[in-house]
Amino acid sequence: MTAARTVTSLLDGSAGGDAPGGTLEIANPARLEETVVEARLGDAATFLDACRRAKTAQPNWAAVPAPVRGRAIQQLGRLVEDNAESLSRLITREIGKPIRESRGEVQEVIDTCTFFLGEGRRLYGQTVPSEMPDKQLFTFRVPVGVAGIVTAGNFPVAVPSWYIVPALLCGNTVVWKPAEYTPATAEAFAQLILHAGFPRGAFQLVLADGPRTFEGIERALDDGVLDKVGFTGSTDVGSRIGELCGRHLQSPCLELGGKNPLVVMPDAELDLAVEGALFSGFGTAGQRCTSLGTAIVHRDVHDDFMARFTKAATDAPIGDPNEDVLYGPMISARFSERYERWLELIRPHHTTSGSDGLGRITADNPRTGFVGDPESGLYYHPVIVDGVTIEDDLYRTETFGPIVGVAAFDTFDQAMDLANGHGYGLSSSIYTNDPLHVFRFRDRISAGMVSVNNSTSGAEAHLPFGGNGRSGNGSRQSGLWVLDQFTRWQAMNWDYSGHLQKAQIDTAELEADLGFRLPAD
Ligand code: UN1
Repeated sequence: MTAARTVTSLLDGSAGGDAPGGTLEIANPARLEETVVEARLGDAATFLDACRRAKTAQPNWAAVPAPVRGRAIQQLGRLVEDNAESLSRLITREIGKPIRESRGEVQEVIDTCTFFLGEGRRLYGQTVPSEMPDKQLFTFRVPVGVAGIVTAGNFPVAVPSWYIVPALLCGNTVVWKPAEYTPATAEAFAQLILHAGFPRGAFQLVLADGPRTFEGIERALDDGVLDKVGFTGSTDVGSRIGELCGRHLQSPCLELGGKNPLVVMPDAELDLAVEGALFSGFGTAGQRCTSLGTAIVHRDVHDDFMARFTKAATDAPIGDPNEDVLYGPMISARFSERYERWLELIRPHHTTSGSDGLGRITADNPRTGFVGDPESGLYYHPVIVDGVTIEDDLYRTETFGPIVGVAAFDTFDQAMDLANGHGYGLSSSIYTNDPLHVFRFRDRISAGMVSVNNSTSGAEAHLPFGGNGRSGNGSRQSGLWVLDQFTRWQAMNWDYSGHLQKAQIDTAELEADLGFRLPAD
């Protein structure tokens, strides 16, 4: 057992010594005997304390001119870039994400900083004409206040950056509560943020478990020191957070689960569709909110697609995340335990393929071509489940793991029913070169994100990211669109006429002759 580092919450940049929420040892999921870090957790009082500090710091941070705030974002981007390799390796050690994907995730943070550093020089409002003479209308974006950001650990830095970077840029202060199973990565990212030039108090890190965080959010809302909640996680917790925020007349930014469909039309390029299905179904061991849920395949190409998809999954390298593999271990024991329960959703009318066995890969349940020693970590066989129908539990349940359902369809309407019927609406994909099908799919799909001839995963950092239905409350992250989460529009009018001009009442009338008609032929 290697001696582990200890990480704690960082309030005003200083480590808190005690652990009122207990301690957690985080094992490397690819090498369970290795402890990555020991986390000393805070509790609801820690969260409340962090929000109070952030509330105190917020007016001074908002008073810093936005272009100067953008400079701090630029410095953060540089720091992340210069520490990219260490951060990527830490992500791979802590959650077992293949190193190439970890590097991509860190790049997403850099891209987010690059986008928002310039926003500091824009953050545009509008000048709007008035209906009165000698009067001018304006709009301004004003920061919301303290943003409490609660994130999952499958993207332990990219997804948090989607909230933290724009929130800070807009003049809010931030309390970040990362997933408790990624404290080492969170602490490392927090250190980079704390070294980027933000003033003391602008950014707080709270390490805590879910229930204590929920209580902390409730207390901070009651106390008036939390003005916006951003949450990425399960639909169940998201709806509880939505309820809680609603009672305080707040609308949180919610990024929840998905059961993302990938529709394969008869004219699709099947190898391309298989490549997309493999990456989005099994990349990150299926633990993305954008992971493929069900491939919905036209009956004419179903058998051909299944044969190619099965071969691709069977041949894919799986194992040690430091190697060039399709996927590594499950993120942590809690993910593998939950995943094993979801495997029970496979029913007798289904047929499975894609590996030599089902469930955990071990010496007794081996996988041909496994990269490394399967017994050392939480590795699972990929499984393709064919014969999924709209009635199946597997069809409507988000299964965070390396499992992909396949359903066949005959008509486009059936494909759309299958693509929407689960009630989620995050990401979606269609493989076809027929523009009619592309635009009909875009029009009828409930998802917030639509890919054409591309997988359901892999959103770029400057397009709106978010979902509808069970996937969220319609809020969007990334790009310009997230600014509406972290600012509020303020409308100003300035009347310099020297007398009261009443809107709608004192407006000028233009006489028109509305009885006028052109002469008939
Ligand atoms: C998530 O799983 O919460 O589009 C986010 C993607 C990644 C982000 C996924 N860029 O798959």
